[in-house]
Amino acid sequence: MADSYIQGLIAERIGGDKFGKDTVLYKFEKIKRAKRAAMAAYPGVEIIDMGVGEPDDMADAGVIAELAKQAAVWENRGYTDNGREDFQKAAAKYMNDIYGVKGIDPYTQVIHSIGSKPALAMIAQAFINPGDITIMTIPGYPVIGTMTSWLGGKVYKLPLLEANGFLPELSSIPEDVAKKAKLLYINYPNNPTGAFASKEFYNEVISFAKKYNIVVVQDAAYAALTFDGTKPLSFLSVDGAMDVGIEIHSLSKAFNMTGWRMAFVTGNPLVVKAFAAVKDNNDSGQFNAIQLAGKYALEHTEITSETAKKYSRRHDMLVEVLNKLGFKAKKPKASFYLYVKIPKGIKGGIEFKNAEEFSQYLIKEKLISTVPWDDVEPYVRMSVTFVAKTEDEEKGVIDEIYRRLSDTEFIF
Ligand SMILES: Cc1ncc(COP(=O)(O)O)c(C=O)c1O
Repeated sequence: MADSYIQGLIAERIGGDKFGKDTVLYKFEKIKRAKRAAMAAYPGVEIIDMGVGEPDDMADAGVIAELAKQAAVWENRGYTDNGREDFQKAAAKYMNDIYGVKGIDPYTQVIHSIGSKPALAMIAQAFINPGDITIMTIPGYPVIGTMTSWLGGKVYKLPLLEANGFLPELSSIPEDVAKKAKLLYINYPNNPTGAFASKEFYNEVISFAKKYNIVVVQDAAYAALTFDGTKPLSFLSVDGAMDVGIEIHSLSKAFNMTGWRMAFVTGNPLVVKAFAAVKDNNDSGQFNAIQLAGKYALEHTEITSETAKKYSRRHDMLVEVLNKLGFKAKKPKASFYLYVKIPKGIKGGIEFKNAEEFSQYLIKEKLISTVPWDDVEPYVRMSVTFVAKTEDEEKGVIDEIYRRLSDTEFIF
C-alpha cells in the first residue's frame, strides 16, 4: 500500500512516525520465533512449554455450566456498566473467607474489572498527571508503568534482588522520588520471582505510603495459589492498608479463567471510586453471564485449592530434577512460577552471557520454553503450567525435562 498520511498521525506514545518500523524484537516475540524454528528443526518432538503464564486446565465444569445457563437468560444480554452488586457481595465474602478481611462494603469498596490488566492501566489514568511518579518493582508485570509513561508520568524502578527475598528495599528510594510519587505498585505473590510477601513487609509498605502520601496498588493475581501450609495473605488484612490503597484480585489464575476476563478491585473507597470513574469511560462492564459465573467461582474456593495442589506437586518434581542437574532451584510458597538462576555455561562449550541466551539455548537445543529476565539478575522463569492432563502425564513431562537436560553438563 502506498505511504499514507496515517503514519504521521500516530501518537508518540506508541512510536509516532516510527510505529511499526521497529526492528528490535521484543522478548515474547523472540520466544515465539525460536519456538517456531525449533519445531521446524525437530518435527515430531514436542515442545515443553513452561513459558506461558496461563493455567493448562480449563475452568471448572460448574463455572462453565453457570456461564451456559446465564448466557441463555434474556435479562443478562445487556451492558453491565460498573458491575453487578451480587458479584460485589460475593467478592466481599470471598475476601473474608479466604483472607480474613472483614467488613468490606460491597457497594463502595468492590468493583469488577474485565481482568486485572485493564484495572492496572486505569488506575494509572485515575492518578497520574504529567510529571507524577509511579514506583514499581522490577522484574515484573509492566502495565501500570507503561500507562504511567503514556500519561506523561515517570516510572521509578525498584529492583527485586534474591538477597532480599525478592522484596523491594523501600529505604533505597531517594527522598525526592518518594515525595513526588503517587503510586507504589507491588505484586505478591510475585510474577516472575514467585516471592511471597510477609505481614511485616506489608507493614513497612503501609508506613512508607503514609509517610509520603502514596497510593499502594497491590496486584494479587496469584494470591490464592499457596501451598505447603502457607496461608493466602491479603495486603488488606494488615492494619492501615485500607487507608492507603487497593488490592486487585483476578479469577484468571485462581480459577483457570484467563480468557474469561474477570477480576475485582477492592480496598480504599476513594481509590475504588476513582477507578470506577475511569472504568466507566473505558468499557461497559463484563457480560452478566461471566460475572455470574465468576460469582459461582468465588463461592467455590475448593477449585483453587485443587489447582494449588497440582502446582505444588509439579513444583516439587521440577525442583528435584533441576537440583539433580546442579541448579539451585527453590520451591516458592505460592504461584506457578519457579524462578531459576541461570548457569554460567556448558562444560567445554557455550557461555551464557545472560538469561536470554540461556533461554534461547533451552528452546533451540532442548525444545524447552522458558521466559528470561535480565532486568536485575539473570534468571529464567519456568511456569509449572505445562500441559499435562493426569498425574502420570505430569511425571512424564518432568522425566522428559530431565532426559533432555541430563546429557549436558552445566557450569554454575
Ligand atoms: C502480575 C500479574 N498481574 C496481572 C496479570 C493479568 O491478569 P488478568 O488475566 O487478570 O488480566 C498477570 C497475568 O499474567 C500477572 O502476572
